[in-house]
Amino acid sequence: MKVVHTIQDLRDHLRGQTRVAFVPTMGNLHDGHLALMKMARQHGDPVVTSIFVNRLQFGPNEDFDRYPRTLRDDVEKMEQRRDVYITFAPDEHEMYPVPQNYRVQPPDDLGDILEGEFRPGFFSGVCTVVMKLLSCVQPRVAVFGKKDYQQLMIVRSMCQQFQLPVEILAHETVRADDGLALSSRNRYLRPQERAEAPRLYVTLQSMRQAQRAQLAAGVCDLEVIEKEALDLMQAHGWKVDYMSVRRQRDLKRPAAAEVLAGEPLVALAAAKLGATRLIDNLEF
Ligand code: PAF
Repeated sequence: MKVVHTIQDLRDHLRGQTRVAFVPTMGNLHDGHLALMKMARQHGDPVVTSIFVNRLQFGPNEDFDRYPRTLRDDVEKMEQRRDVYITFAPDEHEMYPVPQNYRVQPPDDLGDILEGEFRPGFFSGVCTVVMKLLSCVQPRVAVFGKKDYQQLMIVRSMCQQFQLPVEILAHETVRADDGLALSSRNRYLRPQERAEAPRLYVTLQSMRQAQRAQLAAGVCDLEVIEKEALDLMQAHGWKVDYMSVRRQRDLKRPAAAEVLAGEPLVALAAAKLGATRLIDNLEF
């Protein structure tokens, strides 16, 4: 596998390639990332990854400075799997050579809710870097994980709106044996917190269960389901940003009539355990 640090080198290596499959990452790779790369391999050739910790998507009090930067380990993991042909690992100057004055802004109705409400500027940071990376790599397909459900939707809609010739593929969330969604931030969890962390997914599953029971009884009261989930999480020491049931297609709150008519739903959650913020979701 080749590791390149400049856009010029990347373009030189990719000249003439028309079936590039791309997996953008911020590094500190785990099995979730490696699964995205494997999927990319099934949909294109060559596979390109990027490793870039994107300052623009971190808030002032977030973990940009301590975000794990583990390029050497990451390269080793990718070399073992042999799915990736080139890793693009630019430094900040290469990605943002002048102060980054332009931003790609997601629409308010998608960008300002849920994650966007609790992490202002996050999605504009993501859209800006993803737009830049897509422009550098020019892939035919790009693979994103469903764990970052709202990010996936926003990237998809951005590519449609800007008519980018790339297909965005979604990979199911990869989980540890106890159900915890894999994330680079899991490494911040202390042992006791790590033992508690699977509750996030368990609670999402109980939300799905409760919604199915309501549906079977011909009832729809999502607020009750959300409140029960919130109380449960708080009782176990979590600081919850949101536990919310939304429509899959646009992440808006569904009307009761829609739910009763079988509208596809997704429960999305973000909550802090100690200093670590985790997100997860479950479709139903
Ligand atoms: O999901 C991530 O790791 C990041 O948000 C991404 C898409 C690589 C952009 O920095």
